[in-house]
Amino acid sequence: MFRINDNFTKLPASYLFSEVARRVKVYTEANPGTDIIRMGIGDVTRPLCPAVIAALHAAVDDEANGESFHGYGPEQGYGFLSEKISEFDYKNRGIDIGPDEIFISDGAKSDTGNIGDILSTANCVAVTDPVYPVYVDTNVMGGRAGELGDDGRWSRIEYLPCTAENSFVPALPVNDPDVIYLCYPNNPTGTTLTRSQLKVWVDYCREHGALLLFDAAYEAYIREDDVPHSIYEIEGAKEVAIEFRSYSKTAGFTGIRLGYTVVPKELKGLDESGRLVGLNGLWRRRQTTKFNGASYLTQRGAEALYSPEGRRQVKESIDYYLENARMLRVGLAEAGYEVVGGVNSPYIWLKTPEGMSSWEFFDHMLERYHIVGTPGSGFGPSGEGYFRLTAFNTHENTRLCVDRLTGKS
Ligand code: MLT
Repeated sequence: MFRINDNFTKLPASYLFSEVARRVKVYTEANPGTDIIRMGIGDVTRPLCPAVIAALHAAVDDEANGESFHGYGPEQGYGFLSEKISEFDYKNRGIDIGPDEIFISDGAKSDTGNIGDILSTANCVAVTDPVYPVYVDTNVMGGRAGELGDDGRWSRIEYLPCTAENSFVPALPVNDPDVIYLCYPNNPTGTTLTRSQLKVWVDYCREHGALLLFDAAYEAYIREDDVPHSIYEIEGAKEVAIEFRSYSKTAGFTGIRLGYTVVPKELKGLDESGRLVGLNGLWRRRQTTKFNGASYLTQRGAEALYSPEGRRQVKESIDYYLENARMLRVGLAEAGYEVVGGVNSPYIWLKTPEGMSSWEFFDHMLERYHIVGTPGSGFGPSGEGYFRLTAFNTHENTRLCVDRLTGKS
């Protein structure tokens, strides 16, 4: 009889956001007509901006005509988009990242999950805690996590706590990990690291021969000057870091899907015989084999984001969500909650009331206030006693959420 990948059987029964959705479904079926405000999964609510819509329509017309029809595209993405990314997201910030170091994909979730394909299963991994569950779960699937302990920690993963006690700034690892995941602006806490704080990590990776997997999916929400938009703003990062970007929260592409990953040519790792091998070539080989490219339509849509109108419209949408974040941050703080995030991020991270676990608070929020958030413990052991709300709803619903929590509604 064939064997399955046993690592899958070690995983918790369901993925965090699937479990949240299941519990909300059970509640709404038992309480039909309840006016639920959804601030759980970070899914956007505003429609695609007009510049993208126009580009998508034009791309559909291209596909309707034999002369301009596009079938399979380049697996790593069309040059018309990677050139724009190179220019606007990097060169304009003084960073030299060429189109051939950019790999366009269907999103950062896939890429952060798939990147393990090109890394040895012998590598030891470190994650900040709480953490976006994809990093941990995919390392479990890949056989790098060891066993799950009663404390909710995997034996071969080093957890770097980020809590109020250390102002949500992780300490450097002590177990000499080979691969370190960082996500800034952070999901789920919404906190950021300054330039000098990030430099510590790049320097560490250079000194210890570690790979930094830097998830910058929320980069477009950065408003403060001292918060880097890219890890490559830090000197020496191109030799140690892969960066993941997403159009989901930037431009409302959660439904149509698009992101990209930067693998610099300078980045090299050791093979079994101790020879240095470039990761750019390995990721290209992985993508050309397992991925047939993001759709022509979506890539044309993303190209329009770099036009003057596209950039203005995207900024308006993000400003809209950041105003929601401000409302939540200020309103909840006034109501006595301890809150972080929401300044350079669409996520608000709040401490649950004394004695209430994350899941108890989830139930309380759902049953008493009809508000859906995400329990902090779902993001890792150090998330216990915390709760995440997103700024992706409408102004009206966000105000209503604050009013419900402060007893005004
Ligand atoms: C989240 O809510 O953490 C994100 O939306 C999940 C994701 O981007 O996959």
